[in-house]
Amino acid sequence: MTQYSNYIDGEWVPGAEFTPNINPSDTSDVVGEYAHGTATDVEAATAAARDSFAEWSMSTPQQRFDVLDAAGGQILARKTEVGRLLAREEGKPLAEAIGEVARAGQIFKFFAGETLRLTGDIVASVRPGLNVEMTREPLGVIGLITPWNFPIAIPAWKIAPALAYGNTVVIKPAELVPGCTWELVKILADCGLPAGVLNLVMGKGTVVGDALVKSPHVAAISFTGSVATGRQLAVSCAERGKRVQAEMGGKNPMVVLDDADLDLAVEACVNGAYYSTGQRCTASSRLVVTEGIHDRFVKAVKARLKVLHVGHALEEGTVIGPVVDQRQLDQDLEYIGVARDEGGEVFGGERRDRPTNGFYLAPALIIGTTNDMRINREEVFGPVASVVQVPDYAAALEVVNATNFGLTAGICSTSLSRVSHFKRHAKAGMVMVNAPTAGVDYHVAFGGTKASSYGPREQGTYAKEFYTVVKTTYVNAG
Ligand code: UN1
Repeated sequence: MTQYSNYIDGEWVPGAEFTPNINPSDTSDVVGEYAHGTATDVEAATAAARDSFAEWSMSTPQQRFDVLDAAGGQILARKTEVGRLLAREEGKPLAEAIGEVARAGQIFKFFAGETLRLTGDIVASVRPGLNVEMTREPLGVIGLITPWNFPIAIPAWKIAPALAYGNTVVIKPAELVPGCTWELVKILADCGLPAGVLNLVMGKGTVVGDALVKSPHVAAISFTGSVATGRQLAVSCAERGKRVQAEMGGKNPMVVLDDADLDLAVEACVNGAYYSTGQRCTASSRLVVTEGIHDRFVKAVKARLKVLHVGHALEEGTVIGPVVDQRQLDQDLEYIGVARDEGGEVFGGERRDRPTNGFYLAPALIIGTTNDMRINREEVFGPVASVVQVPDYAAALEVVNATNFGLTAGICSTSLSRVSHFKRHAKAGMVMVNAPTAGVDYHVAFGGTKASSYGPREQGTYAKEFYTVVKTTYVNAG
């Protein structure tokens, strides 16, 4: 079995322990053994990142462009091979997995370009003879903590801007899916990134994540994961004066109005709710449907769910891969049970047997729910969506905003005035019109409101709000 080491100060450093990375489509398939880092590894990694900051932060945009652009090119060239690894370790169907790897490559290309586009401002002072300049500088060492559901895209959209703006990095990928981040780090190292600029420490959040947050060398933490962990992290960072950015959960509504194009609405909802096995913080988990279209909509979604192929991520024709692990499967089944106990009518949602031993679950649609039920309040993070029937648009909008979350909100309608109203009044960081609530572009701002997000936006040119700090310089021009 191949063993994969941590990467610290330009060296591959084996861990004292290694953990098997298990394929959720087939638990007899072990992808590899990955090092388990310790607090001592984090100390070495953060110290290396601190020491390499002086040089990397003063590198030219061209130097940073060259590394990021080359890495983007390699990721794109190897998207099928790395996509297979992603599908094996996370369970995303191969086509989706290859798409995610391509997205990671494009993110690196985009941020390569951003190195050349960073500008500042020069303004006249209110005092005679002075000029004022505002420029952006990197922060220092950034700690990155990433989740299991996007094993390469999320590491990419944190590493690329961090490096592009001249920061150095220590990344801790999710314990369940370290393989793609390992490949990403290897590619960046092969593309000539100087030793110490990017370090990889794999392992547990309670050990590696905790040590990163406590490290005096780390200036800022960017995190994607659960609300509970994100909030705790924000407190720990505030106590230590660290900048923090946390992308957390969602309970994203998709409104379907009577005037919607039914086929389009069904496709958008099925894609948004169930693709990636519903394991996306942007998943459409609350389908808010007006009464004139409700029965036709439910019937059509059920018909689509019946033919969605649930299977091995590498099997031809699979649309819904397995759930990521036993713990998540138990949580999904528990929520389906809760919804039933609350009076919801459950369609699908049963365990599926496949030729290989994996965590297979048929997509579940829960009908006849109200917005105050637990199934509509708490994030499930599985192939589970519920339908809330409402009399009209006004009631739909009320349901949309009656939630602690605010990541994405969607609407399917052919009415320009309704859509325009919704765009202004949906309390979410991202609004999707006649399109799934999940699946976002790589070059634009990403983030939510309320409990979904904390701190500045990720991605696109907006990423600089987190990864740089503004310096104001006064120059006496005489
Ligand atoms: C997407 O929907 O394409 O963890 C991205 C998540 C989000 C990313 C979703 N941070 O699901």
